[in-house]
Amino acid sequence: MNEPTATLPLLVTRRFAPAVRARLDERFALTMHDDEAVMDRDALLRTVAGVSGAMVTPNDRIDSEFFDAAGPTLRIVATLSVGVDHIDCDEAARRGIVIAHTPDVLTRTTAEMAIAIMLSLVRRVTEGDRLIREGTPWELSPNFMLGTSLEGLQFGCVGFGRIGREASRLATALGMRVVHCSRRATGEAGERSFDEVISTSDVVSLHCPLTPETHHLINAPVLRAMKSSSVLINTCRGKVVDEGALVDALRRGVIGGAGLDVFEDEPAVDPGLIACENAVLVPHLGSATHRTREAMGMRCVDALMAVLYNEGTATNIITVASA
Ligand code: DGY
Repeated sequence: MNEPTATLPLLVTRRFAPAVRARLDERFALTMHDDEAVMDRDALLRTVAGVSGAMVTPNDRIDSEFFDAAGPTLRIVATLSVGVDHIDCDEAARRGIVIAHTPDVLTRTTAEMAIAIMLSLVRRVTEGDRLIREGTPWELSPNFMLGTSLEGLQFGCVGFGRIGREASRLATALGMRVVHCSRRATGEAGERSFDEVISTSDVVSLHCPLTPETHHLINAPVLRAMKSSSVLINTCRGKVVDEGALVDALRRGVIGGAGLDVFEDEPAVDPGLIACENAVLVPHLGSATHRTREAMGMRCVDALMAVLYNEGTATNIITVASA
């Protein structure tokens, strides 16, 4: 006799990889926003009512209003992201709702994006591509579009967690010297104060989560403390950088350039940044590979199965320290 298939109601706010969808279909009664676009807030609040779980993305704000709209049946929210700044985790903990995210499986891809942006910027790859597409006349000449080699330069890693460490490892492979700082001291080789990382590095690469403490961590005084030749790379969260101050610093040559995969008010990008030749701008593609996005989806499903059906184990649950 076949096992009865449990089908708890689950809200899915976006179209996920086919293999992820197939696993969800097997075990859940889906209310699904089967679309590439963000789910409208009203629809989100309407359809979450009475579900046992929700699978969401960083574009969905998960707060008291969301939890109220869901009602007492909601037991877990799994987000297709490692970052959880769009979720009120404390409020979830107060209500006994589990939050799951997708660490580890995106570490390498996101670190690769930091390196890709850094190389594009210092070797002027996107700038050169733009020049050709715009039909600007050019020819090889001794002083044409000279950039900087990374060999021997200092890579300053702000936030030495999983992704920061991987980016540092890749930077080391490129012949860079790594220094790093974190919220909590690690005692590891290369550790410096935040101020020293900022003022001595040729590349400052941001890998910290967005929290009240890191909001606008990189502001006008910090940008002024950087070397005028140095570049800023941001693949974590846009709000870690004061974008207005950054535009000003890029325009006035306070720093050499910026490579950004994330923005303060996504998907809007400050027109001031768009006007800067010394900025490489990428539309939040840090974890955007086929393999990684599927693996992220699978991590979400693992957590949903563990919490809602007690099947398997979930190692991607956020634990909130009690006050
Ligand atoms: C994350 O995982 O937090 C990314 O920013 C979204 O993929």
